[in-house]
Order: sequence, then structure tokens, then C-alpha cells
Amino acid sequence: MSFIDPKIESYSIEMSTRPSSVCEALEVHTRKNEEMSQMLIGPLEASFLGLLLRSLRAKRVLELGTFTGYSALAMAENLEEDGEIHTIDLHKKDYTERFWLESGHSKKIHSHLGPALDVLPKLAGTFDLVFIDADKENYIKYFHLAEQKLSPHGVIVVDNVLWSGKVLKSDVELQDDSSSLAVKRFNEMIQKRTDLHKTLLPIRDGIFLISRKVNK
Ligand SMILES: C[S@@+](CC[C@H](N)C(=O)[O-])C[C@H]1O[C@@H](n2cnc3c(N)ncnc32)[C@H](O)[C@@H]1O
Repeated sequence: MSFIDPKIESYSIEMSTRPSSVCEALEVHTRKNEEMSQMLIGPLEASFLGLLLRSLRAKRVLELGTFTGYSALAMAENLEEDGEIHTIDLHKKDYTERFWLESGHSKKIHSHLGPALDVLPKLAGTFDLVFIDADKENYIKYFHLAEQKLSPHGVIVVDNVLWSGKVLKSDVELQDDSSSLAVKRFNEMIQKRTDLHKTLLPIRDGIFLISRKVNK
């Protein structure tokens, strides 16, 4: 889902730094072979995350929701050689590793298999950027766990927070739609937190950028 006029979005992508040709090939492969290929963050969000990682001089990144490995690779391409990205998913596609290897960035990418709620607490160390892009029902839990792992100047980025605009609907309208309700509750929780600096960007399906006001 995108809220931007498709022509404006294409122009924005054209003017922006693009992921590598291998990452683009992974995107093409995913769109051709996966029914749920719309889950990919796509080149504009990839470019945006890349800029953020470079501005933060991020060394360690955590991602919830690997899917075919596109966003993990797009982020790895914007880390220094000693950078690392830990990415969690329930499954891993058989072709993902092949694209990561071909890219030359595979040694930065650490794939963890299992439910994020189990895997995340076991990961050691802190992270400069946490990208939350897994099942929406657990967004609030993921955020609280991510906060505990965030480095002092770290940023948490949460994807799909406009959820195709369904967040504008009333709770009654969404009573049988647990994903939409979960995204709505998550956004409200963040909005109420006065200790956080947050910006909801209407890029693609909505991206929340969140950091602490006080470093700890
Ligand atoms: C939106 S996709 C991720 C897209 C990916 N970040 C990209 O843009 O290339 C969401 C992923 O979350 C995974 N997922 C769903 N529930 C999960 C859970 N409980 N723990 C870990 N991963 C989960 C799904 O298997 C799916 O691959």
C-alpha cells in the first residue's frame, strides 16, 4: 500500500539512492515468486533506511520480519564492513542466502529462525536501529522488548503503521480485524509516551520513527 501518487513515488525512487543490483534482483525474484510480495519495503523505504543508518553511523541493527531478505540486504549495504544486522523470522526462503552471498554483504547478516518474542530476548548486546516489520498483533510487545535493547542514541523504526488507512476506522468497524486494531493500539500507545520523540511518516504504508528524548 502506498499513499503517494504512483507517478510521484516513481519519480522519488528515480531521484533517490537505489539498493544494489543484487538487491534489486532479489526484489524482482520476490515479486515473481511470492504471493505476498507486497510485504517488501521497496526501494524508497530501503533508501530511507539506508540514509538513517548512515546518519546514525549504525553498527548493530535488529530486524523483526526477514521475509525474503530484501530489507535486511538493503540495510546491510549501508553498514560498514564491521557492521551487523540480526534478522528474525519464523521461516527462511531457500533462495535468500544465495542473494545475500552474491551481494558480498552476507557476513554482516545474521539470520535467526523462530518466533520473534522468543528469539529477541536471547540476543546479546544493544542495537542502534531496530526495524519492526513482523506480525502486527505483537507490535506493542515487540516495541517494549526493542526498547530494552536500544543503544543510547538508537532509533526504532516501525513499518505499516497506517495499515492501508484502516487506522482511521473506529474500533467498532474494526472489531473483527485484529491486525488493524493492533496497529491502532500501538500508534495510540506511542502517541501517549511523552518520553519519546516520534514522527509518523506517510511513506509507503506509514513508517514510525521513534527515539528516546533522554539518552539512557
Ligand atoms: C512484512 S514481512 C517482512 C518484510 C521484510 N522486512 C522486507 O521488507 O523485505 C513480515 C514477516 O514477518 C514474519 N513473521 C510473522 N510473524 C512472526 C513472528 N511471530 N516471529 C517472527 N517473524 C514473524 C513473516 O513470516 C514475514 O516474513
